[in-house]
Amino acid sequence: MQRKVIFILFLSLVVALHSCKQEDQKAEQECAPLNPNGDSELSLIMRKMATLAEENARAIREGKELAPYDGSFDKMLNAERSMHIEEDFFQGMAKTYISTINKLYEAKPEDRLALHNNLIQTCQSCHGETCRGPLKRIDKMIVTL
Ligand code: HEC
Repeated sequence: MQRKVIFILFLSLVVALHSCKQEDQKAEQECAPLNPNGDSELSLIMRKMATLAEENARAIREGKELAPYDGSFDKMLNAERSMHIEEDFFQGMAKTYISTINKLYEAKPEDRLALHNNLIQTCQSCHGETCRGPLKRIDKMIVTL
């Protein structure tokens, strides 16, 4: 009797672990489906964008200055991508992102919180329609005080 119970517990553990692993793999795959030759230009830019957005979220929460931005994210418009995305959609979203980050860096300190959150919403909108993998990380960049 006891053995049977232990066996059933063991089985459900195996099933749970298995489905967990499948979900992880899906989330990872979602942004880099066709990438046999290493990281795309867009991936490298995205990683910098994500780091800067996290630094700025922290700075705004702590009432500090924004992290320095060199203007280089304009390059995302022409960066080589690994994902196939409809060109007009990508260009439209990317231009919204670029104009919002420029506004953030020109803004008065009291307007930065709202503009930062607008910026993160452009990440969410584009990723909602392209690759959802980074959304969990992106959601944490929204600042609420
Ligand atoms: C215009 C659409 C668009 C916007 C806006 C956008 N992304 Fe991306 N992101 C992509 C695409 C497409 C990829 C996949 C890269 C590729 O195709 O090579 C990607 C990849 C990523 C990755 C994975 C990079 C890697 O390691 O391979 C992260 C993390 C990421 N984005 C975070 C962000 C964050 C944070 C923002 C906002 C600050 C943002 N993205 C805004 C389209 C977008």
